[in-house]
Amino acid sequence: MKISRLSQETKQEHNSQTEQFAIDVLTGLCSNPKNISAKYFYDDKGSELFQKITQHKDYYPTRIEYQILDNIKRDLPNLFDSDEIDIIELGAGDGHKSQLIIQGFLDCQKKVNFYPIDISEKAMVLMEQHISANPKLDIHRVVGEYFEGLRFVRKNSSNPLLVLFLGSNIGNFDRTQNQGFLRKLWKCLNDSDHLLVGFDLKKDVEILTRAYNDSAGYTRDFNLNLLHRINCELGADFNLKKFQHFGSYNPLLGAMESFLLATEKQDVFISELERSFRFEAYEPLHLEYSFKFLKSDIESLSALTGFEVVEHFTDPDDYFMDSLWRVSKGENHKLPLNLYVV
Ligand code: AVJ
Repeated sequence: MKISRLSQETKQEHNSQTEQFAIDVLTGLCSNPKNISAKYFYDDKGSELFQKITQHKDYYPTRIEYQILDNIKRDLPNLFDSDEIDIIELGAGDGHKSQLIIQGFLDCQKKVNFYPIDISEKAMVLMEQHISANPKLDIHRVVGEYFEGLRFVRKNSSNPLLVLFLGSNIGNFDRTQNQGFLRKLWKCLNDSDHLLVGFDLKKDVEILTRAYNDSAGYTRDFNLNLLHRINCELGADFNLKKFQHFGSYNPLLGAMESFLLATEKQDVFISELERSFRFEAYEPLHLEYSFKFLKSDIESLSALTGFEVVEHFTDPDDYFMDSLWRVSKGENHKLPLNLYVV
């Protein structure tokens, strides 16, 4: 097993990351409504809580996507004719889902080079436990940012490539950001490379609401942990008892949204920012979007960003969809004019 650390974290980089975190918190808390970016959820404690959410019965996406992948793992390799394939996973997670796909290719006697890319080294360790060793499998862990990692893999290999972007991670982006992200991905890939993207589908609001308000309170703790992280890393004095988790579906956006509500009027001091912030009673702090999709949204998204849909895979209840796309860079491929390009 090889490991590439693309960005060695030096003391200086650590300081500049804290500085960036402080600036983002400042910007978010000065906005109206107040908000903090969901990307800051995943410190070690946050990743552990997310893992617990995914195993809870109320949170269906991970369980359903696992079933979908388990069903397609035998057929997926037939869509690739070569004997060797590179599989890149963006945000590797705990490895359970990657294992299924890898095993499918190995069972078809194909050689697999697996490159999980994740910014968190701890997530990588977790992932490794769930991938079984096999003489035809090479695992090359890449610790770094997604795009940095992608370019690194592309530079070192010219095998057919399958990129995995699972778990509806794409739902954290709003409907313009996701186009920018996919287009950037398209730019890093070659013609005929493949992308398997997981999308959570629109469904009964009660099922959605339950998934983001699990009965064990893991989602609540996951949200509150972000305040705890600000307390620890930026020297703030958030009182976690004075914030209430609220997760609800916004039908106008087609997204689940997570908020923390201040249960009383209060001032919070953040020493790194040398100032305090006023929260009025029941003022919301917006933390996360989890966008939900229709099949038609997925089809227009792929067309808008330069991909062709190869096949949609779903479960019997249509809760979740893993959609397989092929990069299309042919001369005749014209993009619609209204594309948002990064
Ligand atoms: C990791 C972004 C896919 O939106 O469902 C789970 C994160 N937040 N419960 C999601 C999450 C609250 C999750 N994603």
